[in-house]
Amino acid sequence: MIVIKIKAPIECLSEEIDRFVKLVGEAGQIELSKQELKRRAARAELLAFFYETLDGLVGVGAIKVPKSTHRDEVFRKAKSELESQSKLYEIELGWIAVRIGFQNKGIGRTIVSALLERVKGRKIYATTHDDNAGMIHLLQCTLAFHQSGEPYKCRQKKCLLFVKN
Ligand SMILES: CC(C)(COP(=O)(O)OP(=O)(O)OC[C@H]1O[C@@H](n2cnc3c(N)ncnc32)[C@H](O)[C@@H]1OP(=O)(O)O)[C@@H](O)C(=O)NCCC(=O)NCCS
Repeated sequence: MIVIKIKAPIECLSEEIDRFVKLVGEAGQIELSKQELKRRAARAELLAFFYETLDGLVGVGAIKVPKSTHRDEVFRKAKSELESQSKLYEIELGWIAVRIGFQNKGIGRTIVSALLERVKGRKIYATTHDDNAGMIHLLQCTLAFHQSGEPYKCRQKKCLLFVKN
């Protein structure tokens, strides 16, 4: 049996947020300390938890509320055609992580679809590394996000900006 829970951080137990942070950390896509990630997760709008009864928590995701300065910088760096409207994108899809061994079974799609259902009608953006074929496919082909602007430098890699209106 599977259970997907979507909650505001304030409704989560501290241990749930710890498990969320651990899974995101294991996915290896984020260069933040656990404390900083926990602090930021507590500021998210929604957190999603995908439980597989026998194996516990196997996937997570979030609707984040980025700082406006950070968001504007992403749109500017990506040279997005939507840069002048970036303030309309108040929420960001992120921290999507499915445990190794459970990937490619539709769990990522289920998590993200459930999150998007909760924020239907609002403009939203997401970013991912340009070599993350799974996340790019999920955003672009499965969820009808479209890429905006061009690849931009983020730390040692290149990132892509995706938007959904
Ligand atoms: C990216 C990730 C969240 C996708 O979750 P998932 O459960 O493995 O993906 P799903 O099984 O739901 O697949 C969704 C779609 O992506 C496709 N897909 C999955 N992995 C893929 C890959 N490596 N390359 C190309 N397509 C891929 C699936 O075929 C599926 O396509 P469909 O909807 O057309 O059938 C997961 O692989 C993961 O946790 N990766 C590590 C962490 C990470 O990169 N997070 C994103 C940070 S921005």
